[in-house]
Amino acid sequence: MTQRLRCDETPAWTALQAHYEQVGRHFDVRADFEHNPDRFTQFSQQAPHVFADLSKNRIDTQAEALLLQLAEQCGLAEHRDAMFAGGCINSTEHRAVMHYLLRNQSVPATPGEVAAPVFRGAVADAAMPEVNATLRAMLAFAEAVRADEQITDIVNIGIGGSDLGPQMAVVALQAYAITGKRFHFVSNVDGDELGEVLEQIRPNSTLFLVASKTFTTRETMTNAHSARQWFLDQAGPDADLGRHFAALTTNLEAAQAFGIRTTFGFRDWVGGRYSMWSAIGLPLAIAIGEEGFRALLAGAHAMDQHFVSAPLAQNLPVRLGLLDVWYRNFHGFSSRSVAPYHHGLRRLPAYLQQLEMESNGKRVDAQGHTLGYSTSPVVWGEPGTNGQHAFFQMIHQGTDIVPVEFIAVREPAHDMPGHHAQLVANALAQAQALLQGRSDAGGHRHFPGNRPSSFFVLERMEPVTLGALIALYEHRVFVSGSIWGINSFDQWGVELGKQLAQDIQPRLASGDVRGLDPSTAGLLRQFRPRF
Ligand code: F6P
Repeated sequence: MTQRLRCDETPAWTALQAHYEQVGRHFDVRADFEHNPDRFTQFSQQAPHVFADLSKNRIDTQAEALLLQLAEQCGLAEHRDAMFAGGCINSTEHRAVMHYLLRNQSVPATPGEVAAPVFRGAVADAAMPEVNATLRAMLAFAEAVRADEQITDIVNIGIGGSDLGPQMAVVALQAYAITGKRFHFVSNVDGDELGEVLEQIRPNSTLFLVASKTFTTRETMTNAHSARQWFLDQAGPDADLGRHFAALTTNLEAAQAFGIRTTFGFRDWVGGRYSMWSAIGLPLAIAIGEEGFRALLAGAHAMDQHFVSAPLAQNLPVRLGLLDVWYRNFHGFSSRSVAPYHHGLRRLPAYLQQLEMESNGKRVDAQGHTLGYSTSPVVWGEPGTNGQHAFFQMIHQGTDIVPVEFIAVREPAHDMPGHHAQLVANALAQAQALLQGRSDAGGHRHFPGNRPSSFFVLERMEPVTLGALIALYEHRVFVSGSIWGINSFDQWGVELGKQLAQDIQPRLASGDVRGLDPSTAGLLRQFRPRF
């Protein structure tokens, strides 16, 4: 790939700094709404399955035009196209990034018809037969499990990307989930988590899914070994491990060595936090069935096509990613809150934390040079209306500006009279209050207003809309990471802690504190009598 210009060395960056000083710093969205009758139209758009209103953000058309210039000068479109051509854009791990191939199909006209791939090219064409074969095998397995009345509990054992995506989606799509089966997710090595699940299940009615891209992650391996031991102890001499364990991994050999014969694979070009579309999605496929899972993929694929083909100025992931850059690097906002006004999306903030902060929490560029500007914001949140009664005080009246992202659906899955209208009214009112503020009262009752928010509207929480929403977030993270010139697809920052834990664990037993800093040594002694 050709050397790309660093974002802070582009003319557009300098122009954005000047624009921020002249206009952006004191920009009042309320005043702009008064002067510009087209503001809502200019800053809202319908993307596949997601309507987005960005008009309550502290951005004007000039800032957006300069951000689009920044995208051009940083080679965003070329970088995106390199990803979609199978280029080795994960340069520090020497890998392509092609999770979009997992959803690379047009929607079949009739059920059973084979869907045609849309993204073509030498790399995609070579990969698709295996992608499709694995998808077919995994969905057939999911259907068989769904039909198997003896299996009442599915236990997914995995962490990070091998947990957060499928868990978030199973919870979000509860209304579409098969009845009569319970889904459990065990991620933490804290034995309380596995212990709690084991207390609820019986070996002969449980399917354990060991989900690990590498099949080496220590937490997952510890949980998997303990689950296997429990299974063998409980099930007795007739224990059929083969029927009750399956593995979702790129490391099929390690899974087989563990004693698992049912395995579903994927390739190293699927990053852990981008893997819910792969075999890692099996718990979701069991929950919502083949039709549901294919709809999820179709929704994500529709967003992929939008990202690839819509002009940058009307490209929702691009506009969001650029807004993130505007906020982070010019306004200096260091966090963003996500407020899903949907109970089903209660795991979305956790999912987005990994997606965004593991992808873009980097301090060097793709070539390893230290950056002179900020990258990933802190992403955090809770579903509304709960958040309103917890931290919204700070968002309305605190000293820091925290852009909020509201997400709501038009149609609820329940029929409780009055609830949905109240929920939506609250979401709209919070966004309105953040914008308007309140100046008719002073002191403690004064709301400054002009506090930014975005608002996403989905038709309903269903597989196709969830797929589109998640792909939107994936691409938005790509966009800001691309502007920042970082590798959004590695995660070296998690390695050091893993290594040190391996060093510390035997010290807990031996009491050897040599070479440790005084604090770690002191803390280790606190735990000593226990080991
Ligand atoms: O936290 C680091 C990480 O490598 C994540 O990127 C990944 O999703 C998680 O660990 C789990 O990895 P694996 O699927 O290989 O067990």
